[in-house]
Amino acid sequence: MGKIKVLNDNVINKIAAGEVIENPSAAIKELVENSIDAKSTRISVEVDQAGMGLIRIVDNGEGMTRDDAMLAIQRHATSKLNDENDLYSLTTLGFRGEALPSIASVSKFHLRTLTKNDENGTSIKIDGGKVLGICDDNISPGTIIEVRNLFYNVPARKKFIRSLHAEKLSMNQIFIKLALSRPDIDFSFIDSGKEVYRLPANQNALDRIGYIFGKDFTSDLIPVVYDSSKIKLTGFVSHPQLCRNTRLGQYFFINKRVVQSVQLSQAIQRSYGTLLPSGRFPIFFFFLDIDPDAIDVNVHPTKKEIKFSEPSKIEQIFNLAVSDVLKKSKLVFDIKEQNEELKKINLSYNIPRFTNVTGLKEIKSAEFFSKPAPIINDNMDVKPEISSAKTDSSNDEFLQQLDAIINMENAEISLPVAPVDKNIVSGMDSDVNHDIFSQNTNYIKVIGQIGNCFILAENNEGLMIIDQHAAHERINYEKILNGIKENKSDSQSLMFPITYQTDIIKKKFILKKIDILNKAGIGISEFGTDTFIIDSLPDYISPSSIVAVLDDIIDESGNNNSESIENWQIKLSKMLACRGSVKAADKLEHEELQGLVNDLFQTQVPYTCPHGRPTVLRMTYEQLRHFFKRE
Ligand SMILES: Nc1ncnc2c1ncn2[C@@H]1O[C@H](COP(=O)(O)OP(=O)(O)OP(=O)(O)O)[C@@H](O)[C@H]1O
Ligand SMILES: [Mg+2]
Repeated sequence: MGKIKVLNDNVINKIAAGEVIENPSAAIKELVENSIDAKSTRISVEVDQAGMGLIRIVDNGEGMTRDDAMLAIQRHATSKLNDENDLYSLTTLGFRGEALPSIASVSKFHLRTLTKNDENGTSIKIDGGKVLGICDDNISPGTIIEVRNLFYNVPARKKFIRSLHAEKLSMNQIFIKLALSRPDIDFSFIDSGKEVYRLPANQNALDRIGYIFGKDFTSDLIPVVYDSSKIKLTGFVSHPQLCRNTRLGQYFFINKRVVQSVQLSQAIQRSYGTLLPSGRFPIFFFFLDIDPDAIDVNVHPTKKEIKFSEPSKIEQIFNLAVSDVLKKSKLVFDIKEQNEELKKINLSYNIPRFTNVTGLKEIKSAEFFSKPAPIINDNMDVKPEISSAKTDSSNDEFLQQLDAIINMENAEISLPVAPVDKNIVSGMDSDVNHDIFSQNTNYIKVIGQIGNCFILAENNEGLMIIDQHAAHERINYEKILNGIKENKSDSQSLMFPITYQTDIIKKKFILKKIDILNKAGIGISEFGTDTFIIDSLPDYISPSSIVAVLDDIIDESGNNNSESIENWQIKLSKMLACRGSVKAADKLEHEELQGLVNDLFQTQVPYTCPHGRPTVLRMTYEQLRHFFKRE
């Protein structure tokens, strides 16, 4: 007898479950997606012991007839796909006919369902893939699925389940994603008998975000819209002051499907350019509607990723749409009511904050709804008011905990960031109007310098505190980069040229970059085997420091030979800007301070230094009045 035999269905289902149902969150995702596909308008998710004890999903969707219910628990049985072509015109979230039999094979499973047209509902109980019984059930139209003791019969899988705390956070994250994907549906989430979320139906995306993350959170979000005949993109990106150290706060919904995309994340990150320090990531929520035949949804076992037929075009749309709103928005950093750093210090990671997610009661108050949601303009000419934000601390704590967990879990999606300024700097119109800044430059009046480090200034909106080093760096950075790009850097001839001795590695580097160094005003040329000569320099580099500057540039650049010219121009400009800028502890005269402030507000991105640190902190009159209780 041969060695090869066909596996039985139960084993096949367990193998499938290994791929599709890796943890309780995956089961929740599959079951809720089924409820969404069944056109439910209300979906409730209930869990116990982080989903390992019980997951119960109740929906008011179409339900199933007895025959359909019996088919639904069989492998490759689906109502959503007829033939291969349907894969490219899918409007449902599911299509493989795998989820129910997979879950039922690794749990104690109970399906109860009734359609509107039937009188008797159906109840099917399955233990570890074995059908225990099928009978009538008396329930309201819709479907109830209970999954108990997940993985009870696959101890190997159970071992891979992280701590219950980690599972809770990941479950919470998946619930949030699903709820954000369909703000029109009424969702609730009950954990160990406590209602964590109750999200009413018919919300718009921003209301839903506000319900979940707190209304103050939404005041730091900037709407993005792009509409063409084939693609409709709407969403929100965060003010740079609302950023995180992971990509966790980044949400993509493509044709209402929850997905992740490293490429799109990077495209958006590039739009932020120097607005963010390296290692910080913007928060965003994007809803993309695209022709189903322009995407392939069948590329990932848990359907977490999709493939675009024209990925670079989509990345470009995201990149340009975000660049456009950022350049039109007022991105000055506001003083918050409570210092963010202090809040971080108070953070306790040990207390499970899971049930303390939103201060739900507060958000439900009439006050939230009395404030009109920002209007999404379809001509992209949106200038949302970035108001002072009082962050909901409980929620922030919660998000940070999620960050910590997901950071651990999704280490592979925390990619290194290569900030490219293309869109922020060179792609910007030179006559961009920075609201308060360029319009009211005359009104930005310097009051004085404090701590030999910060400039106090006022304008018609309130008080500004400007970091003189960061401001000068921004000014110099844009000047140097433009000089390199347009080959018109200022450079002074040296009376006594300087020689620069190199080794083989340094020599190779300098030779490769010599053109850009020249364009930056550093008159360097080859002079003998391992020597270069420098005969002119920009005025911000002193002859005595040029050797050290070149050594630093080589050290900081590392051995990255594959870097694009554009990236290297940006990097070099950042390094030179930092060296040529006034130091934090330099005492400056009043005129110098005023000159610096005027120059800052003429730059294209006055809000941050080229490394993404803020340049200006604003305290509006409104905030001052509020603080001194003058309202
Ligand atoms: N909550 C529900 N309400 C109504 N019908 C449902 C529900 N859940 C499942 N079904 C039916 O059972 C079928 C099987 O569900 P299952 O999740 O296993 O597969 P699928 O959704 O078709 O594909 P996928 O495996 O990609 O999720 C579905 O096609 C659907 O017809
Ligand atoms: Mg499904």
